[in-house]
Amino acid sequence: MNVRDAVLQKFRHHFGTSPAVLARAPGRVNLIGEHTDYNDGFVLPAAIDRAVYIAARPRPGDTLVHMLSVDFDAQSTFSLYNLDDPDLPRWSLYPRGALWWLQEHGYLVPAFDAVIGGDIPIGAGLSSSAAVELVTLELGLALAEASMPQLEKALAGVEVEHQFVGVPCGVMDQMASAMGRADHALLIDCRSLETTPVPVPAEVSLVILDTGKRRGLVSSEYAARREQCEAAARALGVETLRDASLAEVEEARARLGDLLYRRARHVVSENQRVLEAVEALRSDDLVRVGELLRASHASLRDDYEVSCAELDAMAEIANAQTGCYGARMTGAGFGGCAVALVATDAVSAFVEAVAPMYKQRTGLTPQVYVCRAAEGSGVERLSG
Ligand code: GLA
Repeated sequence: MNVRDAVLQKFRHHFGTSPAVLARAPGRVNLIGEHTDYNDGFVLPAAIDRAVYIAARPRPGDTLVHMLSVDFDAQSTFSLYNLDDPDLPRWSLYPRGALWWLQEHGYLVPAFDAVIGGDIPIGAGLSSSAAVELVTLELGLALAEASMPQLEKALAGVEVEHQFVGVPCGVMDQMASAMGRADHALLIDCRSLETTPVPVPAEVSLVILDTGKRRGLVSSEYAARREQCEAAARALGVETLRDASLAEVEEARARLGDLLYRRARHVVSENQRVLEAVEALRSDDLVRVGELLRASHASLRDDYEVSCAELDAMAEIANAQTGCYGARMTGAGFGGCAVALVATDAVSAFVEAVAPMYKQRTGLTPQVYVCRAAEGSGVERLSG
């Protein structure tokens, strides 16, 4: 049974009635443009055909939310007036954060019964948390009989992350989850927040390779990278690294010092690679896209230092296979997933070769998800 039906069935079974609303928000994979979003730069993610769903039914007149999580096999009851109660379970933090945001912005969300569940691997770097924020915003808005443009939903999700959860993320994950387009990647200008769908050619598949290495260091190192980028921008006399050219970074090398020089070089060169990758995709030059993916990985590994042995091994093994145009780490790094662009007719041979080679080299069992670019978040009203 697919996850959508499983969530609906669980609702009926547990609450003994039919849900009135079903919201959905997808995970994302970033093709290229890593650690550029918080530098006002360019990113090229795609929403994927793995998502989080919430089925719900309002209980007007009450103040308690009853929520059941399929993935955590757990249940939580919380008051709409005490959403930040520290004793509540961690898994309900993101849904509570989204409800908190809606309340803070004057949306009157009634109490409700809900079942949440999905098929985005949790904690693997495929933005399961952004998807939970978006799916709850979609649900809360529908229950409040309100609507908002997709971009505003995405920015609301980012505020949940910053103000309720306490993670200083950029805008990429939430924008991809809210604004994805089927069969397209999304070029996002993280300064203007303009989005441009870029077709993913039908002859290639997005293969996500989960290293099985969980992302231990990510929170402290992520915040450190952000600070280093801000320091580099100050030293270069620009507002953000988006405004610096490679020539300026080279010229300021001594002033920046080795660490900030390499951080800045990654961000500035990565922005260029994103724009080049978009051009190459538009002209069906997949070989060039692949080269850019490999260059991105090398830059993240050597200059930005957010890769790890497992991601390096996965990217190297994937890049050596026939039919693979290019592979690189994706997401914040320090574990999680790599993404490979693979000729669709070579995908099964690719998967069969990569998984055992990776296991032999690292001792870890990888998970492989062959994905399509999917539509962004939304909500359905159910009848009956
Ligand atoms: C995480 C963040 C994003 C982005 C990536 C790195 O996924 O949530 O905003 O910064 O890392 O590209």
